[in-house]
Amino acid sequence: MRIAVLGTGYVGLSTGVCLAEIGHHVICIDVDERKIATLKQGKSPIYEPGLEELLIKNSSAGRLVFTASHKYALNEADIIIIAVGTPQSDDGQADLRYIEQAAKDLAEHIVRDSIVVIKSTVPVGTNDYIKQLIFAHLKNKVKFRMVSNPEFLRQGSAIQDTLKADRIIIGCEEIEASNIIQEMYRPLNVPFLLTDARSAEMIKYASNAFLAMKISFINGIANLCEAVGADVVDVATGMGLDKRIGSAFLNAGIGYGGSCFPKDVKALLHTSKEHGMPLSLLVETIAINEEQQELLVKKALNRFGTLTGKKIAMLGLSFKPETDDMREAPSIRISRALTALGAEVTAYDPVAVTNARQVIGDVITYADAPIKAANGADALFIVTEWEEFRKLDVKALLDVMKHRIIFDGRNCLAEEVLQECGTIEYCSVGRPAVIFKKEE
Ligand code: UDX
Repeated sequence: MRIAVLGTGYVGLSTGVCLAEIGHHVICIDVDERKIATLKQGKSPIYEPGLEELLIKNSSAGRLVFTASHKYALNEADIIIIAVGTPQSDDGQADLRYIEQAAKDLAEHIVRDSIVVIKSTVPVGTNDYIKQLIFAHLKNKVKFRMVSNPEFLRQGSAIQDTLKADRIIIGCEEIEASNIIQEMYRPLNVPFLLTDARSAEMIKYASNAFLAMKISFINGIANLCEAVGADVVDVATGMGLDKRIGSAFLNAGIGYGGSCFPKDVKALLHTSKEHGMPLSLLVETIAINEEQQELLVKKALNRFGTLTGKKIAMLGLSFKPETDDMREAPSIRISRALTALGAEVTAYDPVAVTNARQVIGDVITYADAPIKAANGADALFIVTEWEEFRKLDVKALLDVMKHRIIFDGRNCLAEEVLQECGTIEYCSVGRPAVIFKKEE
């Protein structure tokens, strides 16, 4: 099939690359010419494991092409996938500016009957709205049908999530169009759920909000565990063994971030209020998450009494491992809170430093190795659970620190590792603080 993908962000690029990988001819379009130039050179503008390899492979095979020209891209496309961003407006609702522009560009340039697929996360009713918008701006006499096809890929595992998805949602009331989209995805061998466009749009928001709620729930339980002397890791394991609950997304920590959960929860809350049915569960989900992001700062403040002049080594900046994305990363709030309290922060991250500099700026210092961040520090904060941190020579870090104190915001250091480190004060999330004493 000949497919055009509008937008080369996480979703658009991963989708385009994977559809080429399963044999389709894909043209990815972006209005950002610099990005297109980078992609044409076989380079991925984002850090995403496995993406660049597939990009090079499929570009070389001639199945994957990049362009900034809608005219060129839409000339032969049977299926046009819209995968542009829907950021958050100031009032919490989704900002549809980019999808509206994509619809207008598309309306101007389609020259043949086609299927328009909306993959961007959009509020319920947007498929109908975009259909009218395209219709109103259509230049040529062509027929087009709309399909809602939300995306569930995670950053850091975008390729695997696309090639081995749990489900593919196809929201479309027209059987023929629905069949064509099923055909497009058939080689993936993933179960389909066929529904109407509005339900498909709702599935995406409800799924993200549910997962965010699960995280806030376990974080609330974690704080209670600390108060009553229980261990949230065991509690989550025990809960997760119940098939009705499931163990995924029950890792307590310093809250969720990223480009989806924070904005999608707020957008769904906005929709619910707009319809007079405020989902108060989401109000709590957001409130717990915001508080949780400052948990390590509170713990450090309790421990030291004051943070003025204290040196904090921060490991991890990106909102989660395997990505350089800083959107809504807890490290931002933590850096600001620490520096506002007079602490000096030196941070290390395997890939996110360049992006972090743009968001956090020079109020903190950046190191190119964990040991350099730890040098002379009063405490070590673990903010992102990069695999590299699990394998750290923690003893070597502690040996160069002023105080042997670790605040682990992701519960990612193993007890066996800590026991090898000599005397150390270890504070994690939802578990009693422990002091490992050096054996004489
Ligand atoms: C999420 C959804 O998972 C995905 O389906 C959707 O398409 C986009 O949003 P993503 O934001 O890439 O994906 O990352 P995800 O792995 O879901 O993690 C989101 C946030 O939740 C991260 O900040 C992560 O650290 C946090 N998290 C996740 C927890 O704090 N605890 C958990 O148990 C799981």
